[in-house]
Amino acid sequence: MQDILPPDIYLWQKVESVAREVFSSYGFRELRLPVVESTSVFTRSIGENTDIVEKEMYTFMDKGDRSISLRPEGTASVVRCYVEKNLHTLPSPQKFCYSGPMFRYERPQSGRFRQFYQIGVEAFGDPNPRMDAEVIAMLRQCLQKLGLKEITFNVNSIGCPECRPVYREKLVDFFAGGLDRLCPDCNRRYHTNPLRILDCKVDRCVEMRKGAPRVTDYLCNECKEHFNKVLSLLDVLGISYLVNPDMVRGLDYYTRTTFEVTSSNLGAQNAVAAGGRYDRLVKEFGGPETPAIGFAIGMERIIELLKNSVAHDFPTPDVFIAAIGELAARESIVIADRLREKGFWIELGDDDASLKSQMRRADRLSSKYVFIIGEDEMNSGRLKWKKLSDSSQGEISMFEITDFLLQKSV
Ligand code: HAM
Repeated sequence: MQDILPPDIYLWQKVESVAREVFSSYGFRELRLPVVESTSVFTRSIGENTDIVEKEMYTFMDKGDRSISLRPEGTASVVRCYVEKNLHTLPSPQKFCYSGPMFRYERPQSGRFRQFYQIGVEAFGDPNPRMDAEVIAMLRQCLQKLGLKEITFNVNSIGCPECRPVYREKLVDFFAGGLDRLCPDCNRRYHTNPLRILDCKVDRCVEMRKGAPRVTDYLCNECKEHFNKVLSLLDVLGISYLVNPDMVRGLDYYTRTTFEVTSSNLGAQNAVAAGGRYDRLVKEFGGPETPAIGFAIGMERIIELLKNSVAHDFPTPDVFIAAIGELAARESIVIADRLREKGFWIELGDDDASLKSQMRRADRLSSKYVFIIGEDEMNSGRLKWKKLSDSSQGEISMFEITDFLLQKSV
């Protein structure tokens, strides 16, 4: 779990504001949901035999003897809310976004944290492949607006309850003869969730699964048609993608389209965002049959990419006011207050300190301008200004400060 401090926080705010802007242009509206839910909200949606539910949830009993869990992801809570608040009675599609901390008791490593942040979206009520393409396009627009390059859109279809069992059988047959060559986790997965073997990072499992049947070869006609339409719309939108039949998501609720955006500039944890369709989940939560699709962006990983690949200007004070003497200090607090009201970032020097040490502090803060007010300036009503980046300087009337700053485009 990490503390997030300036200047990194500026990158966090940038990602949040870009996402907010892009999502609202696609009609996604914000939901704010609790970080704790009844444990069953997650077990019944993410799946009993997933790593998240088996090993990674922060689950405990509350004082009322109820089993509650810190949310390991956002989709389950959004679906719980959608059903509980009868949002399905509103006209379809209903499109929501959310952001906040998620908690998974994973082995921490670069890009993997126990408290991490997601920005996510969920769209309900539209089975059309156009919605899949729109959601993926929205994700692309976010990443593009942030200036991220060298990212790959991996897409797949994992079928539906009609065709996936057929594929599962084929996979079980394929691995049956080589169980001794799979890692202990995959031996367990073989019985509980054989598709997850495709996702295992252990070398001998990677080797063993070469030549395994591919899910895309076993899709039923409806799923195949749906997937082909999604791909053709991605083509129309000019989104390059990689069909990756080995991409199996770690959550059980998915049906049909799944996708993951990966970056070669991250280590082993290279997925910056991921999502997919989950056409059966609302019904499983007791709501009407409602197709749905969404994704979540992993904030820490996006920030890591931004830090390494894009140049950033972090905000610095607009003006540092150095005051000499008590009268000047009184005047400078009034000037500062007036300018702050206009939205400028103003820092005040310590009038007990020398001008030299106040100037040093202005420099350390990388203030754009320094205003100097002493006895002479108080008498003349004009203050001295200095621009730190090029050392230009001059004088202005104390009544013209706002115009001066606006003219200089501060
Ligand atoms: P997920 O693949 O589990 O999907 O997580 C989405 C993203 O969250 C990952 O691609 C990654 O960037 C980030 N992430 C996951 N775990 C960690 C971690 N321990 N530390 C740092 N970052 C992490 C979901 O959570 C689904 N709810 C996405 C979704 C929304 N599907 C449909 N709608």
